[in-house]
Amino acid sequence: MFASTAQLAAQAASEGHGLGAFNVVLLDHAEAFVAAAEEVGAPVVLQISENAVKYHGALEPLAQAVLALARRAAVPVAVHLDHAESVELCRQAVALGFSSVMYDGSKLSWEDNVATTAEVVRLCHSGPQGRVDVEAELGEVGGKNGVHDPSARTDPQDAARFVAATGVDLLAVAVGSSHAMTTRGAQLDNALIGQIAAAVPVPLVLHGSSGVSDDGMVAAIKAGMTKINVSTHLNKLFTAAVREFLAAEPNVVDPRKYFRVGNAVIQAEVARLLRLYRPS
Ligand code: G3H
Ligand code: ZN
Repeated sequence: MFASTAQLAAQAASEGHGLGAFNVVLLDHAEAFVAAAEEVGAPVVLQISENAVKYHGALEPLAQAVLALARRAAVPVAVHLDHAESVELCRQAVALGFSSVMYDGSKLSWEDNVATTAEVVRLCHSGPQGRVDVEAELGEVGGKNGVHDPSARTDPQDAARFVAATGVDLLAVAVGSSHAMTTRGAQLDNALIGQIAAAVPVPLVLHGSSGVSDDGMVAAIKAGMTKINVSTHLNKLFTAAVREFLAAEPNVVDPRKYFRVGNAVIQAEVARLLRLYRPS
């Protein structure tokens, strides 16, 4: 069933769980992630990034299919716009009836990030189909350009001032992760996660979670991290499985034959991660 991101995150935070949020590049990803969530009986966030929109040329076709999957799911599924730097794209997600958007002003000055995020909050909280939740980022989690510098840190008091000034529902913070890592050696600053979680009244979001080990993620969730964004790790597993299959089956031309192999691998891994994020 279609769900609110902020409500799922609040519920996860109150139970000491992480909320898995996985990036949808192709419809196959969304189908695999929903199947995994149903297998585990856990809620999940399906997120479409601005980069995925650029790849497809428009938000609506993929988004409508993902929204339909969310509505049909047997578990709560939120649909989220990820890393939007365009206010117009946020507007489109609101019109489509998304659960939430991430407005990413992390590269802007403090003043511009606050002003534009607050504008996005105004347009999202009074959406024609009801409230759309807003995630913002303070302290840039880098790595998308291939350069991994995990030294950026979000100051807890700045985080509290930012949330109060903008009215956001979730906050992405810089605590040692970096985007698009293909190894899992990132060291998170769990003491800082605890300080930020104590200072702000909204759930925290970890970007660049692919670089974090299983143990590191369990510790981060315990310290106060809630929404866990994973993309590269799953793309790496999907591509390795497809590459291996095609090497062994060079005459296959039907994409369903090799996508099925990749989909099964990411479904199994998302099911495993969703269990990891919910320690009993
Ligand atoms: O917003 C998406 C995430 O931060 C994914 O990052 O590709 O490093 O897992 P990742
Ligand atoms: Zn991210």
